[in-house]
Amino acid sequence: MNYEVEKEAAAKASIRFVEDGQIVGLGTGSSAAYAIRFLAERVRHGLKIRGIPTSMQTRDLAASLGIPLTTLDEFQQVDVTIDGADEIDPQLCLIKGGGGAFLREKIIASASRRLVIIADSSKPVAVLGKAPVPVEVVPFAQALVGKEITALGAAVQLRMDASGKPYVTDEGHHILDCHFGRISDPPLLARTLEDIPGTVEHGLFIGMAGVVLIGEGSSVRELHAAA
Ligand code: A5P
Repeated sequence: MNYEVEKEAAAKASIRFVEDGQIVGLGTGSSAAYAIRFLAERVRHGLKIRGIPTSMQTRDLAASLGIPLTTLDEFQQVDVTIDGADEIDPQLCLIKGGGGAFLREKIIASASRRLVIIADSSKPVAVLGKAPVPVEVVPFAQALVGKEITALGAAVQLRMDASGKPYVTDEGHHILDCHFGRISDPPLLARTLEDIPGTVEHGLFIGMAGVVLIGEGSSVRELHAAA
């Protein structure tokens, strides 16, 4: 299966959710990068939008392609955000954060009237949990948070960067990748993780995705959140 073709097809389909004059949340990751390129093409042809990037990486990409950018300081309401995901269940609960940007991604998603998720056909699952749930932690508390999450039954790994040092997020925190296996109750796990002091955010996105576009071969399947 050519996942790049599927990501690109889903990204292309997502652009119709963006309208002239809107504030657009710009996701992070390889799928979102396709969408940013399509948006930039529309901007070159006259579409007037302002983007709020979910990471420094996305900010650099969008700026290099000429998409006008703004910030949450200027606008606290985002019209539509286009982003990727690592896993998507039938209720449109997500695991995000493989790219390490889920804290800003969740902040932007929560400020968005509509979150459009784009993904290839490897991302839908019956039950979340094959991918690890990333948990962003204050470095001071990482061992303690790791111990508490281990006690919940997960195998916990501190994420490292390419040079072998702990990966540092755009907000200066570390990430624990938590392998739970089957997550039978994602909302309950989300609340449990939120209750651990030292946890800044986790990569479970519950009830946030409004539309999910899945590339399947050269076509795109569209899923909508239950009203
Ligand atoms: C970034 O932090 C992540 O949430 C990405 O959106 C997610 O990992 C999907 O990435 P790809 O589109 O590269 O698969």
